[in-house]
Amino acid sequence: MQNFKYIGPFKQLLPMTGLPVKGALLDTQLSIIENAGILVRDDQIFQVGVYEDLLEEAKNHKAEIFRLEGNHVGLPGLIDSHTHICFGGSRANDYALRNSGKSYLEIAKAGGGIWDTVTQTRKASKEELIKRTTKLANRHLKNGVTTIEVKSGYGLSVDEELKMLRAIRDTDSQVSADLIATCLAAHMLPKDYNGSHEAYLYEIGEKLFPVLRKEGLANRIDAFVEESAFSAVQIAPYFEKARQMNFDITVHADQFSTSGSQVAVDFGAVSADHLEASSEKEIQLLANSDVVATALPGASLGLGCAFTPARKILDAGGALAIASDHNPGSAPMGDLLTQAAVLGTFEKLSNAEVLAGMTVRAAAALKLNDRGQLAAGYKADFIAFHTDNYQEILYNQGNFKPCVIWKNGAVAFDKHKH
Ligand code: NIG
Ligand code: FE
Repeated sequence: MQNFKYIGPFKQLLPMTGLPVKGALLDTQLSIIENAGILVRDDQIFQVGVYEDLLEEAKNHKAEIFRLEGNHVGLPGLIDSHTHICFGGSRANDYALRNSGKSYLEIAKAGGGIWDTVTQTRKASKEELIKRTTKLANRHLKNGVTTIEVKSGYGLSVDEELKMLRAIRDTDSQVSADLIATCLAAHMLPKDYNGSHEAYLYEIGEKLFPVLRKEGLANRIDAFVEESAFSAVQIAPYFEKARQMNFDITVHADQFSTSGSQVAVDFGAVSADHLEASSEKEIQLLANSDVVATALPGASLGLGCAFTPARKILDAGGALAIASDHNPGSAPMGDLLTQAAVLGTFEKLSNAEVLAGMTVRAAAALKLNDRGQLAAGYKADFIAFHTDNYQEILYNQGNFKPCVIWKNGAVAFDKHKH
């Protein structure tokens, strides 16, 4: 039986429809429906419109009415297209060392960094990983994030990567948010691997990729293209193999040094993420491609370094998504809305650009065409903020959270009930 629900009225509803995926956006390009209602059928949006106009139709479908009291602004559920929220341990000590003057790479070389988290993640059982990932996914959901990409990359052997990816899959089945898994076995050459970078990548491609396909564990392959991880030359055969097996490709690119965006463009990656070190050349490369450039302001805030040149990327005609990069090392905060608002302030981004970067453009970065906008046929994932003016959301720089979260047409969190 079909189950209809009618939700509203929203003083302002921003459906995030009709926006180009690429290029700069003005706030005047945002369509805003005043006094809007959302008619939901099961887990999808059936219709969006003016509340009073749709009410009759809602009644014809015997919709359950969910009335919002007071003024609310509605947005699509936020999409965080880049996280590492499945991990063991903590890197609070790295953070303290960095803030006392040591660099990210110095700390990594001295035994901290990614390898420290690999050691702690390997020690954790799959159940422990599920428990911790669930906690972080639920915190994200409460903050309005209804779709969360989650990377492996702290296992760094066939078995340990599988443990992580199975933990991500099992967490996905237990939480309200959708978790989109990505295999990041190419995060660094594991220190206990007895062989070259090339041999490690070959082994992962031969032994892990087929299991990802067989068990449906991940459809996306990521790699850290960086001096401390894998070079453009080393990663090429790995991405070639991924492409042959029809995986989507995404790249940790230009974080400290350039070359990653060229790799992303060459392999038709869905996204190139980080880009803090990108220069004019990389910006042009990305802007002239279909690769979604993803800014990770949480990593800039965690490391105390430059932001991704988001303004330049947009002005050059690129697509910009904004994600949290939530991870125990470089991005420990994990608050997407705060980080995106702060990026907007430093990079001079319009409301439209920041909001699109966490909704419709983030959906493009994950190649998901069923969400990120509010229109008939899209997933009924949306969030409400208690205000009469959408500008208040970013103006409060993250210290103003949504009060109700709908996921697949059902209330997944309601602040009024907590
Ligand atoms: O996206 N840059 C590489 N990978 C992660 C950091 C992971 C870590 O430090 O544990 C990132 O910032
Ligand atoms: Fe990352």
